[in-house]
Formats: sequence, structure tokens, C-alpha cells
Amino acid sequence: MKILVTGAAGFIGSKISYLLAERGDDIVAIDNINDYYDVRLKYGRLRELGIGEGYICLEWNKEYNSTKFKNLKFLRIGIDNHDALSNLFAKEHFDKVINLAAQAGVRYSIANPYAYMTSNLDGFLNIIECCRNYPIKHFLFASSSSVYGMNKKVPFSEEDVVQTPVSLYAASKKSNELMAHCYSKLYGIPCTGVRYFTVYGPWGRPDMAPMVFAKAITNENSISVFNNGDMIRDFTYIDDIANGSIKILDNIPINNDCANGVPYRIYNIGCSNPVKLMDFINEIEIAVGKKAKKIFKPMQPGDVYMTYADTTKLQTEIGYKPNIDLHEGINKFIEWYKSDKNPLK
Ligand SMILES: NC(=O)c1ccc[n+]([C@@H]2O[C@H](COP(=O)([O-])OP(=O)(O)OC[C@H]3O[C@@H](n4cnc5c(N)ncnc54)[C@H](O)[C@@H]3O)[C@@H](O)[C@H]2O)c1
Repeated sequence: MKILVTGAAGFIGSKISYLLAERGDDIVAIDNINDYYDVRLKYGRLRELGIGEGYICLEWNKEYNSTKFKNLKFLRIGIDNHDALSNLFAKEHFDKVINLAAQAGVRYSIANPYAYMTSNLDGFLNIIECCRNYPIKHFLFASSSSVYGMNKKVPFSEEDVVQTPVSLYAASKKSNELMAHCYSKLYGIPCTGVRYFTVYGPWGRPDMAPMVFAKAITNENSISVFNNGDMIRDFTYIDDIANGSIKILDNIPINNDCANGVPYRIYNIGCSNPVKLMDFINEIEIAVGKKAKKIFKPMQPGDVYMTYADTTKLQTEIGYKPNIDLHEGINKFIEWYKSDKNPLK
């Protein structure tokens, strides 16, 4: 299978690209390597894929072949670059597309709303237009648990009506789901949206709590604990997210099996084991071997009190269940954090 992975220098995209290349798929990996967070992490993840021991230039048509996988190459392309994407699709004839490129982050969207339009709406439209113009077998895209917004009912089910996002990030992800449904109905493109629940693990994002906490506790700096620690998150280990996504990618939606005969589906991928924020911090403290200096603060705009994935649909239709518990996941994460692989420690 020839598969396009966008956002391949990112936390989740690099892991999925690695696993797909390892099992033998032909991978075309793209990313614009933007500086939303420290690019040393992005270059480090690309190095894990065997890409770019040297400088990766801005020319969008320059290909970098992996030195680790003969079936993987990288191009520095922004999904907001319509012409570059069209050229790529025309040349490569992809079987499947995984769209992970996005402006991520809930809190950042409060101060930087426009950043979300370029990648998450314009970029998403470019990708799905290419899927229409150069037909593919399956389009998988990253949505988010944040679409559940003010949903009160737990656990969060794909059947819940989600109309109450509390950040522009969440609104952009919900928009992606609506755009994909529309293209699926109009053009018969098999589409699956995956709602990821708070992902953590090696090569994680430095703007997210697990990395922020690990760094501050290691360096004996203070950490901000929002809503006075009264928050609950369904933390999900990166391998579960990547393996679940690949299982779903392999399972193409068929009209007859989907609602209204439209080949479109949504799945939660979450651990389904929500953890109190204070217990999460405690696990990191134990793994690091130091106590956190906690500064308690009120709830941040855009945040939600709880996330909790109902994964019944994932289990019954795809046969997949995340299986890495918090203790094991945190230990693996901190082991990586302390290692020389971590460019930010
Ligand atoms: N990490 C999580 O907990 C989480 C939870 C829910 C949803 N998601 C979604 O999963 C996807 C991957 O998230 P992640 O945590 O790996 O984030 P990430 O920021 O590490 O990865 C995204 C990558 O996309 C790239 N990118 C951004 N805009 C681009 C553009 N216009 N063109 C090309 N590349 C671009 C970035 O350089 C980055 O490498 C995102 O869509 C995100 O919204 C992540």
C-alpha cells in the first residue's frame, strides 16, 4: 500500500510512519516542520525515521530518502500549499491518506486563533480535495476528544451529540469531521475520523502536561496545577494511539455498514481509564524520583473538567483495545525522557 502521512515530524505522525514503514507499506511522509514548539524534537523524530541527518531545506519538491527504511521518503510540504499537494498526489497515486498535520493545542488557540484556520481548515480542505481529485481507498484523519466540549455524560461516546466546543481548536476538529462527512457523501470517499484522547509517551509534545511536568520536576522547578488539581484525563499511551489508528486504517468503511449508507465513521481512541490529575503527577514524581513543587491555579479558558473515552465501538467493530496502563506508560515515557534520545532534557 502506498500511504501519505501528513504531520510526520509530529508526535503521533512520526510513530505511525515508523510502524507502517516497519511492516512494509510505502510511506510518503510530509511535514512543514513549523516552529510551534522546539524543532529539535521534530528533527529528532525524523532522524528516528532515518531522515535528514543534514539540513532539510524549504524546497517542497525535494525528496529525502530514509536511510533506515527503503520504503519511506520525506518531503517538506505544508498542507496549506495547494499546488505542492496536487503535484504530489498526481505523481504518487496514493492508496491511503492519513492526515495528522494540524495546529494542535487548546490553550494556544485562545491567543492565536488564526493559526488554526491555515492548517486545520484550509489545509484540511486541500487534502480532502486532493483525495477527491486523485481517488484513494481510505482517508483517515485526526480529530480530538476536545470535540466533546461541554458534554456532561461520561464516558464520551461517538453517539453523543457534540455541538458545544469550548476552544477554537475543538471547533476546527469538529469542522473537519463535518467536512469529511460531506466529502464522503458527495464523492463516496471512505473517511474515518479518530478522536484521540490526551496522548503521552516518548517523543511527546513539549506544550502538553506530561512533558511540561517531567521537565519541571526533573529540574526542580515549579509546575502549574490548573483547577487546583481537580481535573480528570483519559491519558493514552502513544503506542496504543498508533496501533489503534493503523488497525482502523486497515478497516475501510463500506457504505452498507455505515449510517445512512455514507462510508464515513468516527472512533474514539482512548485508554478508557480516566485518571485524576494529582494521581498522574504522582506517577511522574515516582518515576522521576523527585517531588513536584505545585502551584495551584484556577481553570484555564478552553479547558474541560474531564475526558473519558467510551471505546466500545473501537472494540466491537475494529477489535482493538488500548492496553498500556498509566504506570507502565509513565515508566516508559520517563525512561525516554532521561535518555540521550531526548533533545530537550
Ligand atoms: N497529542 C494529542 O494528545 C492529540 C489529541 C487529540 C488530537 N490530536 C491531533 O492529532 C494530530 C497529531 O498531533 P500531535 O500531538 O502529533 O501534534 P504535533 O504538533 O506533534 O504534530 C503535528 C505536525 O504537523 C505539522 N504541521 C502543522 N501544520 C502543518 C501544515 N500546515 N502543513 C504540514 N505540516 C504541518 C507540525 O510541524 C507537526 O510536526 C493533530 O491533528 C492533533 O490535533 C492530538
